[in-house]
Amino acid sequence: MVNRGSHHTRSFSSTSKSVSRKPSFFTITLCIILLSACSIFTFLFSIRNISDDDDHQKDRLVEHSESHSQSKSQFQSESQSLPVKVDRLAWLHLALLPILQVPDEQLWDVSFSYGLHPCVKPTSEYQAAQGSDRYITVRSNGGLNQMRTGISDMVAVAYIMNATLVIPQLDKRSFWQDSSTFSDIFDELHFITSLQGDLRIVRELPKELESVPRARKHFTSWSGMGYYEEMAKSLKDYRVIHVAKSDSRLANNDLPLDIQRLRCRTLYHALRFSMPIEILGKKLVERLRSRGGRYIALHLRYEKDMLSFTGCTYGLTDAESEELRIMRESTNHWKVKKINSTEQRIGGLCPLTPKEVGIFLQALGYPPSTLIYIAAGEIYGGNIHLSELMSRFPNLVFKETLATKEELKAFTSHASQTAALDYIISVESDVFVPSYSGNMARAVEGHRRFLGHRKTITPDRRGLVKLFDKLESGRLREGSSLSSRVQQMHKSWQGAPRKRKGALPGLKGRARLRTEESFYENPYPECICSSKAV
Ligand SMILES: *[C@@H]1O[C@H](CO)[C@@H](O)[C@H](O)[C@H]1NC(C)=O
Ligand SMILES: *[C@@H]1O[C@H](CO)[C@@H](O)[C@H](O)[C@H]1NC(C)=O
Repeated sequence: MVNRGSHHTRSFSSTSKSVSRKPSFFTITLCIILLSACSIFTFLFSIRNISDDDDHQKDRLVEHSESHSQSKSQFQSESQSLPVKVDRLAWLHLALLPILQVPDEQLWDVSFSYGLHPCVKPTSEYQAAQGSDRYITVRSNGGLNQMRTGISDMVAVAYIMNATLVIPQLDKRSFWQDSSTFSDIFDELHFITSLQGDLRIVRELPKELESVPRARKHFTSWSGMGYYEEMAKSLKDYRVIHVAKSDSRLANNDLPLDIQRLRCRTLYHALRFSMPIEILGKKLVERLRSRGGRYIALHLRYEKDMLSFTGCTYGLTDAESEELRIMRESTNHWKVKKINSTEQRIGGLCPLTPKEVGIFLQALGYPPSTLIYIAAGEIYGGNIHLSELMSRFPNLVFKETLATKEELKAFTSHASQTAALDYIISVESDVFVPSYSGNMARAVEGHRRFLGHRKTITPDRRGLVKLFDKLESGRLREGSSLSSRVQQMHKSWQGAPRKRKGALPGLKGRARLRTEESFYENPYPECICSSKAV
């Protein structure tokens, strides 16, 4: 694990020792040389990006450049009207500002983690569940990450109920419309064997039980230990219990340590992706590394279903807004039909737009040359909206540009499998930035915390929207003042170690549980320990 704190102190003290007595001519010259080398380098870099950008724009944005020039950033329209030389200097100016402000390690290094490390081993009292005469079958619902965390919960539930778990069926009806089975997405044999010491898992229900009457249950969401012990008793006459939904059926908090660790063993070790997914995922991470060394994985949740579901139409055309409204009203399981987009946005309930993400990352100090992997499905409106991010960060990489057609062929018609690739690339990235807080964002953030508090920058959307609106009305300008406010706002939003947050105060009953931070978003303290504890 990288220990940034001590490394930092060491290098600092050694330089101060050699410099302390003699701030000599040599030192000063060295500084000047370094500084100018740095700016020349940045200049060359930004020029390269401009030409990259130009190519991109030519290739991908020709049709839209006319009609959308109005909605483009001030920065871009400026560069169009000025002679090339000035244009490049403007780039250089903007490119240099944040680089000089923010030290490299602040942009990229993992959070100092105080010697914390993953801990998933059971305690000495722990015993495997013996249950062999009762079976639990599960229909896992939702997208990939909802299913993964749901399955981890079901492993714990089967353990508590002293039952054998049948490999879960995956959701084929959700928005994802994916026909993948468990073994298409996960390494089934590994799943079964790595949980051997916990409970029995079988591929299928034994033949003789296929026709016996089953107890069909919708377990209450966020239930605790007592609920499932009670269920085990009241359903003791059934040999097969069918669970209709797996998402959020288990409480986040107040469960025995061994149950929490079992959830972590399942999610972080047992639920390994299937070989083809793991292999391609690793390959793509290597390709990203070979392109630029470090990269940001941006979960750009600017997809049609999300915008329609949240009713966020800010920055969209009337036709687009109308299309999203119709989709929402005709999707039965989305309960809220009438949504005031303005209120959603002010409340911080909208995914950031590609343009907003661009402003955000630039304000944080990431230089335009930063390599950004877009972990997402199809971006709504495609290049029209993406161009507003690409104008600031031309080095955007998509699955489709990173992998060959041949490599992606087996995955493209399976949303869950492509999401698994995004998951791997996001967990492995140097910096993970989710533009919205969904299941994927939570799962990736939690996994990164577990693996050593890798940097996850969660945008404070409510705070940012206020700044964005000030920019739009001209009360604030981009540059160092915006930068310092954005950086200040996100000092403690970068995935540094902290214990999982409880419920918001003042709430009672189920509403409380809903506002707790998810166990899988932050498995500290149960699955992350200080050196002495384990
Ligand atoms: C679990 O089930 C097995 C039989 O399947 C039984 O022998 C054992 O006593 C049960 N354990 C508990 C704690 O109920
Ligand atoms: C939506 O909410 C905003 C802010 O509260 C308000 O000004 C606006 O009139 C509302 N729009 C509609 C269509 O109700």
